[in-house]
Amino acid sequence: MTTPTAPQGIDGGLTDYGDKEFSRYLRRSFAKSMGYSNEMLDRPIVGIANTESGFNSCHRHFPELLKAVERGVLAAGGLPIVFPTISLGEMYLAPTSMLYRNLMAMDTEEMIRASPMDSVVLMGGCDKTVPAQVMGAISAGKPAIQLVAGPMSTGRHRGERLGACTDCRRFWARYRAGDITAEEIDQVEGRLATTPGTCAVMGTASTMACLVETLGLMPAGSASIPAVHTDRLRVAEETGRLAVGLTESGVPFRDLITDASIENALTVLLAIGGSTNAIIHLTAIARRAGCEISLKRFNELSETTPVLVDLKPSGDHYMEDFFAGGGVGAVLRELEPLLNLECRNVFGETLGDRIEREKDNYVDRRMVRAFDDPISHVGGLIALFGSLAPDGAIIKRAAADPTLFEIEARACVFSSLEDLADRIDDPNLDVRPDDVLILQNAGPKSAAAMPEAGCLPMPAKLAASGVKDMVRISDARMSGTAYGTVVLHVSPEAAVGGPLALVKSGDRIAMSVEKRRLDLLVDERTLAVRRDALARSSALEATEEFGYRTLYRQKVQQAHLGCDFDLW
Ligand code: FES
Repeated sequence: MTTPTAPQGIDGGLTDYGDKEFSRYLRRSFAKSMGYSNEMLDRPIVGIANTESGFNSCHRHFPELLKAVERGVLAAGGLPIVFPTISLGEMYLAPTSMLYRNLMAMDTEEMIRASPMDSVVLMGGCDKTVPAQVMGAISAGKPAIQLVAGPMSTGRHRGERLGACTDCRRFWARYRAGDITAEEIDQVEGRLATTPGTCAVMGTASTMACLVETLGLMPAGSASIPAVHTDRLRVAEETGRLAVGLTESGVPFRDLITDASIENALTVLLAIGGSTNAIIHLTAIARRAGCEISLKRFNELSETTPVLVDLKPSGDHYMEDFFAGGGVGAVLRELEPLLNLECRNVFGETLGDRIEREKDNYVDRRMVRAFDDPISHVGGLIALFGSLAPDGAIIKRAAADPTLFEIEARACVFSSLEDLADRIDDPNLDVRPDDVLILQNAGPKSAAAMPEAGCLPMPAKLAASGVKDMVRISDARMSGTAYGTVVLHVSPEAAVGGPLALVKSGDRIAMSVEKRRLDLLVDERTLAVRRDALARSSALEATEEFGYRTLYRQKVQQAHLGCDFDLW
């Protein structure tokens, strides 16, 4: 464990001019140009990583939240200094925000390490921002605390509650099937995201917030507070105060994250029916801290962990209901027999002590079910292995159709996202309702950089005849707000020559959720011929690469390794 060092404030990590006293004098002189007094400059410094951006609507309330953090830091005797990092607004980035998660992690890490701060408040929220900030803070090694944006509140449409983005998909599917008009989808467009904050369901952002709270990296109870709730401002102020305490005695994230705390986070992930993306992010976080996640162990946990939380996309409620119904604390109390209670949070409190302290807190059983009255006796996510996915693939069984769990079916293959867009609505597409849709070349090293495209749309001619779900398999990811019988993160991916690259339309695919199997039923001799042809065609491909994308393509690892760079 790292021994905390005394705060150094503005004199920490001096710029190198070959004369330390000169460096100190010069820095203080420039700091004074911002109007700081000596009294302020002698305080411990709390850096505040601010990810407000005009390209991130989920963070549009950050100016108000930031004021509350600064107030807390000043009240506790610290000096708050705000610094920007890149911000990843999920809907605004091409080809996908996942391409930039590691860039944001590097930005965050290097700014924390290089700048004179004794602790840091990480203000994030939208999907990739929180994992990027946690990854960066782990590697930077200074005491840190996470503050999340909090979820959006729901909107209304013709008497129905609407929450981004499960309802975005539901209405879009109805529009594609001809159920609702262009005029109505235009109305819905304006009613899905009506407040600041992250998506209103248990999508990736809220899942990661719940896991980071479980890991003890943010104030207890803060993951699910709605973005517009006054408690969000109160916890922001509290976070600022607590960050000042961390300048004296804070333990860096990398010393708090252990095999035991990661296993707690996986258990909570399963119990909340959380996002498939969280497995990738949690794997990256674990590996930064020197821990490993085994998908085989994940499957064992999935067998013993009940689903307790009834939230969209797999259930009925929204994050604002989860908050009112008890939030993460209520889930932790129910899961107590399964958790490692000795794990500590950033303030030194053990998980067991937290659970004991909150034992009389309110819980609404419509949102958080009792351990012995679960929604399902087994976890919401599992990994599949087999000849089509030697290193694993993930299915969110809690959001899938159980009648499609045991199948042997014909493959209908799309070789890329462009191919998918070109042919999925072709009336002449050779596809039947009992086929398996396969998408290739959408994994981490592909040109697409693993977008949330794994929830392939129903082919138009099947959607029009009422088909709502089919087995879909890819090396892509899926939005945490999506649902369906979707197998994701197939590893190794097609772009590095994984077996997924060898599938052709008409091949037989076997999936057994019960046996955790995913197999391509093609003989080895045929596969060898296809492998050979694939190797020859890949050798001819020239990819235009530049700058960060060169680094990304060279260093990004496969999904089962968290898609982090091979640099740590
Ligand atoms: Fe930001 Fe969903 S788009 S959390």
